[in-house]
Amino acid sequence: MHATITPATLAFDPDGHPYSPFFDDVYHTTSGGLGQAQQVFLVCNGLPSRWAGRAAFTIVETGFGLGLNFLATWAAWRADPARSRRLHFISIEKHPFRVDDLARLQAAWPELAELSAGLRRQWPALLPGVHRLGFDDGRVTLDLVFGDAVQALPLVEARADAFYLDGFSPACNPDMWSPAVFAQLARLAAPGASLATWSVAGEVRRGLQAVGFAVERRPGFGGKRQMLAGRFEGAARSPEAPAERRALVIGAGVAGSSVAERLAARGWQVVVVDEADGPGQGASGNKAGVFRPLPSLDDNRLARITRAGFLYGLRHLEHLARVGHPVRWSPCGVLHLGRDAKQEGKMRAVVDAHQPPADYLRVVGQEEAGQLAGWPVAAGGWWFPGGGWIQPPTLCAANLAAGGEAIRTRFGQRLARLERGDGEWVAFDAAGAEIARAPVAILANGVGIRALPQAATLPVRPARGQVSHLPAEPASAPRVVVCRLGYVSPEVDGLRCAGATFVADDEATELREAEHRENLDKLDFILPGFAAPFDLAGLAGRVGFRPASPDRLPMIGAVPAVAQAGRDTPLVDIPRQPGLYAVSGFGARGLVWASLAGELLASRLSGEPLPLERDLVDAMDPARYLLKPPRPGAGGEE
Ligand SMILES: Cc1cc2nc3c(=O)[nH]c(=O)nc-3n(C[C@H](O)[C@H](O)[C@H](O)COP(=O)(O)OP(=O)(O)OC[C@H]3O[C@@H](n4cnc5c(N)ncnc54)[C@H](O)[C@@H]3O)c2cc1C
Ligand SMILES: C[S@@+](CC[C@H](N)C(=O)[O-])C[C@H]1O[C@@H](n2cnc3c(N)ncnc32)[C@H](O)[C@@H]1O
Repeated sequence: MHATITPATLAFDPDGHPYSPFFDDVYHTTSGGLGQAQQVFLVCNGLPSRWAGRAAFTIVETGFGLGLNFLATWAAWRADPARSRRLHFISIEKHPFRVDDLARLQAAWPELAELSAGLRRQWPALLPGVHRLGFDDGRVTLDLVFGDAVQALPLVEARADAFYLDGFSPACNPDMWSPAVFAQLARLAAPGASLATWSVAGEVRRGLQAVGFAVERRPGFGGKRQMLAGRFEGAARSPEAPAERRALVIGAGVAGSSVAERLAARGWQVVVVDEADGPGQGASGNKAGVFRPLPSLDDNRLARITRAGFLYGLRHLEHLARVGHPVRWSPCGVLHLGRDAKQEGKMRAVVDAHQPPADYLRVVGQEEAGQLAGWPVAAGGWWFPGGGWIQPPTLCAANLAAGGEAIRTRFGQRLARLERGDGEWVAFDAAGAEIARAPVAILANGVGIRALPQAATLPVRPARGQVSHLPAEPASAPRVVVCRLGYVSPEVDGLRCAGATFVADDEATELREAEHRENLDKLDFILPGFAAPFDLAGLAGRVGFRPASPDRLPMIGAVPAVAQAGRDTPLVDIPRQPGLYAVSGFGARGLVWASLAGELLASRLSGEPLPLERDLVDAMDPARYLLKPPRPGAGGEE
């Protein structure tokens, strides 16, 4: 997908209808978009009656526009006592509106004011990819996919019960009605999926029929004589058998606690086992960790997944606060300085190429960087105004608390052996006593995963890291996170974290003076002269072990049942161990992966649409190493 999103232009035709100069077409008909939403999209899809009594109902829309169809559907769902338990709405949009423009346009429908305000409160940054928003206590999910439908639809993973085809008229916008798009609708169709559109153009009807939709013209709405209703009669992928909603999660770090919370939110019963005496005591035990994405010029997978993880992570932090379990964190901003002039130039090139929204990322010169840091610096670089630091143990604790009674914890219990019997995974301690059992087991036990024979195919390596704790006055500079080969946090509880070292395959737990020296050297490189007053002797700190992955991407998904596979084997054809999953390999960036990883695995296990593009999901598949042997090497925090 393209790495830049061009926002929609707010314009009106001579009659005052919202109009798109890109497509030379109006967004809504003269007789009112709301009526069209109800009469064309809902009625032609047999809604509301078709969702009655169902566990979930999924709609895929081409063209989000003003969001009117979504709002009308959400309103109808709310008003229907027989509604499905969950409503999932996926909409693809190439040119999303800016939120202020949306507010102006949506003011035309006062009857939807409460819902549209709720939508705008969560309106995402205009950046490419899937943005998963949750409403009505998570019972309504909106996946906004920002990108061109031709490229974006093939990356959506969902089973659609209904389609809304609403992408401007085929004459103005043939791409949106192309055979490639229709083929994707067929791929996404659940058995019996329906569709609706106001277009009865011959090529639309023939194109839909060619991929398996039976279509019929119906009397039209508003100015239109006819509209089109369709039903998928091709070979639809049958839905995956839902797993029994009981899971065992090994590990209460950011990985395990995130997936536990997301499962609990879907009604799963979860037991979390950790050998420590509380949440976030392993690698996730630091006072403050850096939280920000990692862009790249080619918008590679790391850049796309960290962007998605960062944006979802922000929403998750807000969600936890909303449900009464705030995390200790600060969106103070992250300043990432170029290590030299060459890197600074590359950083500038990334921003020039992608033109991200300035409240997400912008370039700052040396002087402005110094002002932001509150300390003179030697370079400019990237400024992430919404990034910041998170205290990982509080994220772990908030996740577990948000799960309420659906999450039970077994602290102080070390998993020694995992066995499958009678369709369940059983966790045993070293004395052979059973700790817990469930049909689904999720290995989120950081570097401890290496001791489990079931996970022998996962190339997780320990990477020792030491952070130094420097005494700091409240409100002293820097009050933002500053990175440059290492990082330094603002003052948190009288201390500032400076770090971190990165030593692969070293499992010694002691604090080392040499590593404090390394951290102070890095600090001096970040903020010249800042480290001078600190005395190495007696410096406090913390040592942890990152579960590092060879390609710096995490491992999220089903654990393979074989040790080898042919290079060209599709990932779906690699046999997996029944009910066994991993959330691992978080390496130096656990905070940016964790929340999205939880949502991704919980969605998959619950048979729901995935919150991320398929190629990115595959890029994190734990079985990928069977196809391509890992290259050695792993990196630090910066
Ligand atoms: C020094 C340092 C600095 C870092 N800085 C940053 C940063 O700035 N930003 C960032 O995003 N990331 C940072 N990271 C990385 C981040 O902390 C990790 O990626 C993340 O914490 C990994 O989370 P996890 O849940 O996978 O592992 P862990 O937090 O280690 O959780 C695994 C849990 O499993 C438990 N466990 C293991 N084996 C067993 C067993 N057999 N039975 C029962 N329980 C078991 C452990 O007790 C542990 O609690 C840093 C890491 C280190 C070490
Ligand atoms: C008629 S409007 C949709 C109205 C919308 N469904 C609503 O309820 O307000 C059509 C939308 O399709 C979008 N669009 C057009 N071509 C697209 C493409 N190739 N990929 C994704 N979106 C596209 C336009 O930007 C526009 O927002």
